Amino acid sequence: HRQLTPFPPGFLWGASTSAYQVEGAWDEDGKGPSVIDARASYPEGTSDYTVASDHYHRFRDDVALFAELGLKAYRFSVSWSRVIPDGDGEVNPEGLQFYVDLVDELRAAGIEPIVTMYHFDLPQALQEKGGWSSRATIDAFERYARVLLDALGQKVTYWLTINEQNMMVMHGAALGILPPGTEDPQREVHQQNHHMLLAQARVMRLVHDVAPQAKVGPAPNVACVYPASPDPADVVAAEDFSAIRNWLYLDVAVRGRYNTLAWAYLTEKGWAPQIEDGDLQVLAAAEPNFIAFNYYASHTVAAPRGDGTDVGGTGDQHIVTGDADVYRPAENPHLKKNAFGWEIDPVGFRTTFRQISDRYGLPLLVTENGLGAYDTLTEDGRVHDDYRIDYLAQHIEQMQQAITDGVDVLGYCPWSAVDLVSTHQGVRKRYGFVYVDRDETDLRSLARYRKDSFTWYQSVIRANGLS
Ligand code: BG6
Repeated sequence: HRQLTPFPPGFLWGASTSAYQVEGAWDEDGKGPSVIDARASYPEGTSDYTVASDHYHRFRDDVALFAELGLKAYRFSVSWSRVIPDGDGEVNPEGLQFYVDLVDELRAAGIEPIVTMYHFDLPQALQEKGGWSSRATIDAFERYARVLLDALGQKVTYWLTINEQNMMVMHGAALGILPPGTEDPQREVHQQNHHMLLAQARVMRLVHDVAPQAKVGPAPNVACVYPASPDPADVVAAEDFSAIRNWLYLDVAVRGRYNTLAWAYLTEKGWAPQIEDGDLQVLAAAEPNFIAFNYYASHTVAAPRGDGTDVGGTGDQHIVTGDADVYRPAENPHLKKNAFGWEIDPVGFRTTFRQISDRYGLPLLVTENGLGAYDTLTEDGRVHDDYRIDYLAQHIEQMQQAITDGVDVLGYCPWSAVDLVSTHQGVRKRYGFVYVDRDETDLRSLARYRKDSFTWYQSVIRANGLS
């Protein structure tokens, strides 16, 4: 048995949400529509996000629950179109005030706010002007970030730029940033990616300039990639997939330059973005203070067979979609799956920590990790979610292994603080420590109930780790 290094004092035990999934009040107090609100249809079974968990109206009660839970940190996102309804025009003071109040409420409860500037919900008005295909959106993002920093730069230490940019790029159509009918979607989405990378780099620089005491980092989804077998061709496929899925984004965000394997892939496909004079200097100047990342599961891929059966996967961003030229998705026989078909791999969490830390040498902050499950509210007003406790405990154990390996971990913010509307499977797929009484279409009481995982996580935080 290995002697494990304890979690450091001040470790940020937290929990996460995102604006469109939790707030509701989708058109209240001057908020403009986002690409999420403007969707013509939602993934199968997914409800709309108009009320969500009604956090906009209940945030003080929710923060009181977070305080009771003992959270040291709460990671949430700001809705860009609540603050600037059309994305680049007038500031909406009421929208901005909501976040000032939320941050003040958190601070008063001794909870560190961790703020994501943009979590999938681009203002629809910007989307209509070309969205991330237009370089004007880079300026709009920088201006929006300046508005946030002016209002909150002295109150918030931890800033995240863009949530899961890599998933938006790999699933651009599903996540609403790619206009339907785009002629060459892959080329377009990689041009958008370049623009998002520039926007992110400019905003990281801006944070250093206007709020030098604050810290800023990117927040991609990172997953270690296994070869399906020791066949050297599978190993190459796994490295290629990891370069395309993980390092394409993080190398630019942290090292300020494109990953060579990923760049070769984009070039061969004809998807390499156009780079203008000065862009590379902008990317190189960003200097993040830490890397935030979301981890749900590892991936396993094999070399393509070249027999016409190679492309597989679904619209779910957590499941690999194949590329017939480079890799094919594979099952990992060592892993179990959750009720929604996602693999569960706590040891892969440790591997992912080690890989990111080795490559970049920066402190790491986990901004999502968790188990989506069907929960049942029992008559005693509880949810007996021992399956969620198991998942979280195993991941916390592996995080402690990573810390013992020498990885610098700032904190752990599982998904999600309270139940919210999932990105792919609606309300029925729950993640929270707190149950919210509603289903897909019936809003019921929207009352909050503590799950068993709430009581369990409370004791983990109190003990600064697993006992
Ligand atoms: C992450 C997103 O990709 O995964 C969240 O940042 C999302 O917004 C989470 O909710 C879980 O995915 P899903 O589809 O189960 O909600």
